[in-house]
Amino acid sequence: MMTGQKVGFIGTGAITDAMVRGLLREPAALSHVIVSPRNAEIAAKLAMDFASVTVAADNQSIVKSCDTIVFAVRPQIAKDVVRSLSFRDGQAVISVMAATDRATLLGLIGSDVRLTQAIPLPFVAERRGITAVYPRDRETAAIFQVLGGVVQCDSGREYELLAAASSLMATYLSIMDGASAWVTGKGLSRDKTRSYLAPLFFELSRAALEAPSGVPFAELSRAFATRGGLNEQVLSDFEQHGGADALKTALDHVLARIEKGFLPERAKP
Ligand SMILES: NC(=O)c1ccc[n+]([C@@H]2O[C@H](COP(=O)([O-])OP(=O)(O)OC[C@H]3O[C@@H](n4cnc5c(N)ncnc54)[C@H](OP(=O)(O)O)[C@@H]3O)[C@@H](O)[C@H]2O)c1
Repeated sequence: MMTGQKVGFIGTGAITDAMVRGLLREPAALSHVIVSPRNAEIAAKLAMDFASVTVAADNQSIVKSCDTIVFAVRPQIAKDVVRSLSFRDGQAVISVMAATDRATLLGLIGSDVRLTQAIPLPFVAERRGITAVYPRDRETAAIFQVLGGVVQCDSGREYELLAAASSLMATYLSIMDGASAWVTGKGLSRDKTRSYLAPLFFELSRAALEAPSGVPFAELSRAFATRGGLNEQVLSDFEQHGGADALKTALDHVLARIEKGFLPERAKP
């Protein structure tokens, strides 16, 4: 337990809900968490489910009373929200906002805070989320270690690359969906298709996770592709028809968007 540390969340939406539930599930890692009053429904539910959660009256009172502030609003309103708050020099601030430029964010905060950026994934709710953190920070890493694991980045570039990689979640599931739609389209029931494909993909991910770190994914892929066999044929067909190129292009594009940063000049109405 990270005893005594008071952690406050500004922006009580989906990702704050996941983080708070992950941190407070038994055995709880924190003894006191404060959340902002918006979203009212999510904040009330958290306070109902966990005695250690308090709903603050407003954002500034969170900054005032907490050692660590997790900033989790949507980028569209971030500027207005940050500007309205006054932080203490040395205060720990963890921004989980996607694709925000560090220098811009520090400029908006104004004080000399200890800012770290992190990319929590929804799996943190079950303490199974791997989180990219930049820059290295012992306390931030301790929080995300509880929530499933941490990769600490040594440069902004490393962080951007992991942010790009984290954008593959929907595509991964869409490959499952595409495979499933094809199989069911040819006549197999949806139930049978799903009960076959979900464990198959799960075990492939497990094989990747459990392989020694020196073994490249390409080698694992080859291990599942018997020479002259069906897997080899599908992989080769997929690559020849642009599958690998589409993946690379999509990652290049999302990296370009991340590099540009996403902190609009003005909040949208
Ligand atoms: N969801 C994810 O898996 C995930 C993962 C990593 C990072 N992120 C990042 O986390 C941030 C939040 O994402 P999210 O998915 O949690 O979004 P979300 O569900 O929309 O949560 C944002 C919350 O901010 C609240 N809010 C609006 N104005 C506020 C204000 N002035 N002060 C305090 N709170 C205010 C909103 O409340 P109302 O409902 O009352 O408007 C909303 O509940 C984004 O920047 C996103 O890039 C999300």
